[in-house]
Formats: sequence, C-alpha cells, structure tokens
Amino acid sequence: MTEKAWGGRFSEKTDQTVEAFTASIAIDRRLYRHDIDGSIAHCRMLARAGIISEDDAAQLVKGLEQIRDEITNGQFVFDDRLEDIHMHVESRLFDIVGNVARKLHTARSRNDQVALDARLYLREETRHIIRQLHALRKAFVDAARANIGTVMPGYTHMQRAQPVLVSHHLMAYYEMFTRDSDRLRDALPRIDVMPLGCAALAGTTYPIDRDDTAAQLGFAAISANSMDAVADRDFMLEFLSAASICMVHFSRLSEELVLWASTEFGFIELPDAFSTGSSIMPQKKNPDVPELIRGKTGRVIGDLVALLTTMKALPMAYNRDMQEDKGALFSSVDTLQACIEVMTKMLPRVTFKQDVMRQATTTGFLNATDMADYLVGKGIPFREAHAVVGRAVAYALDHGKRLEQLTLEEMRVFSDEIDTSLFEALTVEQVVNRRTSSGGTATENVKSAVSLAGARLTAERLP
Ligand code: ARG
Repeated sequence: MTEKAWGGRFSEKTDQTVEAFTASIAIDRRLYRHDIDGSIAHCRMLARAGIISEDDAAQLVKGLEQIRDEITNGQFVFDDRLEDIHMHVESRLFDIVGNVARKLHTARSRNDQVALDARLYLREETRHIIRQLHALRKAFVDAARANIGTVMPGYTHMQRAQPVLVSHHLMAYYEMFTRDSDRLRDALPRIDVMPLGCAALAGTTYPIDRDDTAAQLGFAAISANSMDAVADRDFMLEFLSAASICMVHFSRLSEELVLWASTEFGFIELPDAFSTGSSIMPQKKNPDVPELIRGKTGRVIGDLVALLTTMKALPMAYNRDMQEDKGALFSSVDTLQACIEVMTKMLPRVTFKQDVMRQATTTGFLNATDMADYLVGKGIPFREAHAVVGRAVAYALDHGKRLEQLTLEEMRVFSDEIDTSLFEALTVEQVVNRRTSSGGTATENVKSAVSLAGARLTAERLP
C-alpha cells in the first residue's frame, strides 16, 4: 500500500519533488524499534480499553513484530513516497495483516507518535551516555591515581603560573565530566514522559488509558497537556545543551592534549594506535583524535543552535518544521557517544612525561607567590610582599637566574626578614604540598579527592 494515508481530501497526486522534499524516512528510520514498541503498547491498551477486539490486537502485534524483524534483518524496503517511519510501518502492516491494520491508528496521531518515538529513543541513548561517562570518569580517576607524583606547570593566560600535580589537572576534568553526567541525569525525568494519547493536539474521544501505555513502555509519567506534549521539543534542547557543554569540556581537553603532544611542550606521548601519520612527511605523528573531537564540538553546538532556531517562533501546536529535530538530535547523540568512547580508550594509554613536566616547573618563577607567602609569614603585609618579590623576580631575570638560585645575600637586599629557610619554601614539593586548602593541589588533598571520586563511582547506580 503506497497511497497516502491522508489522501482522501486530495484531488491531485503529490508532486514527486514534494514527496522527496518532505520525506524524513532516511533519517527517522532509525526510530523503527521505538515506533513499533510504541505501536504494540498502543494496540494492547486499545484492546484492554475495549476500543478494538483482543483478536484484532493480537493480529496487529504479530504483524508489528514481523515488521521489526524484517527491518532488523535488512529485508524491509523503504520508499520516499511513504514519508516517514510511521507510514512505512503502517503500510507494511496492511500488506501483512490486511484491513485490520487500519485500526492501529485509532486514538493516535503521528504528532504524538513521533514525540513518543523520540522520547523512547532519547531516554535509551541518554542512559547509555551516562554509563559511557561513568567509564570515562573512571579513566580519569585511574590516570590521576597512576600519576600522583608528577608535577607540572599550571597555567593562567597560557603563561606558567604555579605548579600543580598532573593528577590535580586530570581530576579537574573528572569534575567537569561528572557535572555533565549529572546534567543528563537531571534531564532524564523530563525526557521520561509519555505523550501518546494526546493525538494531534487536543486529546481524543476514545476511552483510552494512557497510564496503561506508559506502564507498558516503562515511563515514569504521562504528559499533562496534550498541546504541550506534541508541540514542545525542550526535552531535546535540554539534551543538546548538556551535550554541547560536555563537548566543550572535551574540546578544551583535546586542545590541551594537542598542545602537550607538540615538540614545544613535549608533556605527553600519545599512543601510536590513537595517532595518525602524514602522507608526505614521514616523521609525523599527528594527534588527529583530539583534533577531531575538538572539531566535532562545532557540530554539536551547531545542532543545539539549529534546533533552538527551528523552535523559536513556532506557534502551537505541531508544525512540520519540527521534523528537522531528529537530524540534529541523532547527529549529536552519535558524535557525543563516539567522542566519549574514543577518549575513554585513549586516556589510559597517554604517557605523561614526568621529567619534562617537572623540568618545565623550574622556569617561569612558579614559586614567586610562595616567596611572597613566606614574607607574609614573617609579618609583612601581602601587597608589600608582592612588591618585594616582584623586584626580586626582575633582578633574577636580569641575572639569568631562578629565584632559588639567588644567594642569601642577594635575597636579603630585598628584605632583611629573609633567612635560609626561604630556599626550602621555594622547592616545587613545598610549593605544591603546602596548598592544602580544600580543593587545592597538595598531594594529600589530591589523594583524598581521587579516593573520594573512586568511592563515588563505585557507589553510583547506573541507569
Ligand atoms: N515525520 C514527522 C516528523 O518527524 C512525523 C509527524 C508528522 N505529522 C504531520 N502532521 N505531518 O515530525
């Protein structure tokens, strides 16, 4: 059956250009499982509510299950003239079970049907992403634990600032990806709402039982307003926002990995299996994986902006504009999942070059703040201490020395409060390990952050 389900009131055949233009099957065919699950639940509910007979429902369910198998096994023929996945399933159902197929769409519209499919799909994928992020976060905690003794320069303005533990830096990403996971968990209850039964926009005259359908499909709630249920896509926008923020975290991480893998930094070695070469320059080993993650961030942010823009001036209720939602959603789901997967596999294989990173902490006066703190300890107000150290840094720069290479006599020109104990305070170990304020980079803090995170990951219940 390829004639239009809505053809009754039309006197002219649809133009082929229009058929191709309006068809969404190339994109929404991936909702077939969700569409069929939704239809099966709908049939069963219709029968229980006495709207169709048990026998009709049994035939419909059997036919729908056959279609699911046909699509899964690649035996199903798709055709632009049938617009979308909903019409494909219904049309094939007619071929299989005959006239009774025409009862499936009782008390339903494609408007609530597509909203249902999208919610079933996104609930499943969001749960999957939360599980993927759990593995990624664990990879960060493991890397932080494995590299606990390694110091590196921390940067502000991309200038060396103060030394930190590599593990502290890694745990910063653990925190970011944990919030990303929390954001998706927060979005889940708003995705997990059952729209079927809202029909085109106003509800239906049939004595349907929406709670029955919701229970069959494992939904936590049903939508309260039929117009809202078919007209809004904020559950997708929320997902795309959370996905965009997560991708921004990935992009910043990737930027750092690209920089650190350069000869100029030389902080890390990326695994060969996660790098690529050049077709002309034989010596090259390129960080294409983090580069592509950084690049794909544009795609996900673009999907968010695209759907926000599509939705922003739509009057209620359903408008065909909304068909554009799925391309954006699928592309972001695929992109985010691929990025999480590849980073989770790559991270444990990144080598942090302890010596290079440590060496990098010796130039750039990363202990200057600590010299000021030392003077504060001697009773000098911080602003004054800051100025004293500023002069010492200028002097050291002029003489091509680091602060700790100045002699006690040279130091005492800047303040007579200085004694030999200053030099101990300027070592990188002291500089790192004295930062014991909550959330600071001292080894003991980072160790407890790592074990806290490990405990949280173990205790977390995955959706
Ligand atoms: N393919 C459509 C979409 O994705 C399904 C809903 C169509 N509804 C309609 N009234 N034409 O939005």
